Amino acid sequence: MTLQRKLLLGFSLMVVPALLVGVQAVRTNGLVRGTLESLGERLARSRTYAEVEDAMFNQTQVIWRYLGGDPAARQEFPLTEQVVDYWLDRWAASLPPDELHLAAGVRGIETDIRSVAVRVFKLHDAGQHAAAAVLARQELVERLQPALAEVNREIYRRAREFSVQAAFTQVAAIVDAERRVLWGIIGLALVAGLVASWLIARGVARPLSELQRAMAVVGAGDLDHEIQPRSRDEIGDLARAFARMTEQLRQSHAQLVQSEKLASIGQMAAAVAHGLRNPLASLRAAAQLAQHRVDAPAAREQLGAIVEQVDRLDLRIAHLLTFSRPTPFRPLRESARTLVEGALSGFSDLLRQRHVELTLTFADPLPEIRVDPMRLEQALTEIVSNALDAMPEGGKLHIATRLADGDGGGEGVALELTDTGPGIPAEILPNLCEPFFTTRPEGTGLGLAIAKRYVEEAGGRLAITSTPGRGATVRIWLPMASGEAAAAPARSHA
Ligand SMILES: Nc1ncnc2c1ncn2[C@@H]1O[C@H](COP(=O)(O)OP(=O)(O)O)[C@@H](O)[C@H]1O
Ligand SMILES: [Mg+2]
Repeated sequence: MTLQRKLLLGFSLMVVPALLVGVQAVRTNGLVRGTLESLGERLARSRTYAEVEDAMFNQTQVIWRYLGGDPAARQEFPLTEQVVDYWLDRWAASLPPDELHLAAGVRGIETDIRSVAVRVFKLHDAGQHAAAAVLARQELVERLQPALAEVNREIYRRAREFSVQAAFTQVAAIVDAERRVLWGIIGLALVAGLVASWLIARGVARPLSELQRAMAVVGAGDLDHEIQPRSRDEIGDLARAFARMTEQLRQSHAQLVQSEKLASIGQMAAAVAHGLRNPLASLRAAAQLAQHRVDAPAAREQLGAIVEQVDRLDLRIAHLLTFSRPTPFRPLRESARTLVEGALSGFSDLLRQRHVELTLTFADPLPEIRVDPMRLEQALTEIVSNALDAMPEGGKLHIATRLADGDGGGEGVALELTDTGPGIPAEILPNLCEPFFTTRPEGTGLGLAIAKRYVEEAGGRLAITSTPGRGATVRIWLPMASGEAAAAPARSHA
């Protein structure tokens, strides 16, 4: 996961609780508003019913006024009927279905009032004033008004219960639920915050501090400190870049140390070699002269041995001088085959004496390579002589060349020299190319150091692999001479 995504995920987790609080607030607001709206409706209905009650009271007052001797009241009565109808209809229209029976009750009483009014008016008009008053009292005051009061009680009870009390209960429930949800959100915020902090710490802070520690260690000079980039994000990329940089530093540091070592060894070796060569030449000349003058075969043989040992010493000194006096590199275009054949030309006798079977495989065609031919032949000579030294009792030496790409992807030629000697123990493999590293009493330990130097100055690579007990392989890769088109048979990686 990229760093950007990790940060985004961490912060989103932190924002989630705030979002939930917002959602909860909006939801609660909706619920409270609904409750208030239904409360408002109930209150408006109660006000309408108050108008109904008022109109019905006025109606009975009109009857009493007529009985009291106000003839205009008789014309007013139909008007009161219209007013009552108007408010009753409005009130009934606003009632929920379960309260419609209340409207029916009120309507029944109103119908009764109207029929009582007709009968009372009739009696009064017929001159039976006392009877009309009695009827009005019996019907209106004693029967219908108590019935209406009963219905009113029911209506107001319901209004109380279903408006204010219901709203109160609903709001209390909403507040309760909200409190629970808010506690839940607080808990969630705690968990989400912890998870997000953990994610950010794990994904960002930890790799960064690991990298910082590694940088401090490398900065203090420990170039071998291993850097393991674990994350696959931008910090991982940074760690990988740092690891590559450290590796390059390590290599150039090693090269620097090596060349400083070589330079000082070279200076010393050159001085010693020069000092030895002249006395050795005199020694050799003297031994050869004495050989001619002495007759005793045993003494001649010993003098011959002296000459032979002096030659050997001279060869070693020549080795030392080659190594210590770097001459300028003169590259030419050359074919790998010519180089191999040139290097092998001096070995035909030795190969036969040692019973070493030589096989060659040249890929054809192969592009030319850019090398200093003298030096590369010398490098090959060192490697072949090592192989022969490793197989005193005979064996097989196989030399193969083929087209191959280098580490950096450049095209070139690979040369592989494989022997069937005892091989090389893994623990000394890294030291083979160090100057003066040798396991042979006769050795100078300079052969592979020289070979590696010559290969690398031509822009190539030298690597040695071995299966102990079965032999060793020296693999050399050299870059193709520029302008060569890679004619391409089997291509592989060097
Ligand atoms: N083909 C090989 N098989 C086994 N050991 C080898 C081979 N080539 C090199 N070596 C080892 O590498 C060492 C260094 O080789 P080199 O630098 O040529 O020095 P020298 O030949 O003088 O010992 C040898 O002493 C030997 O132990
Ligand atoms: Mg050698």
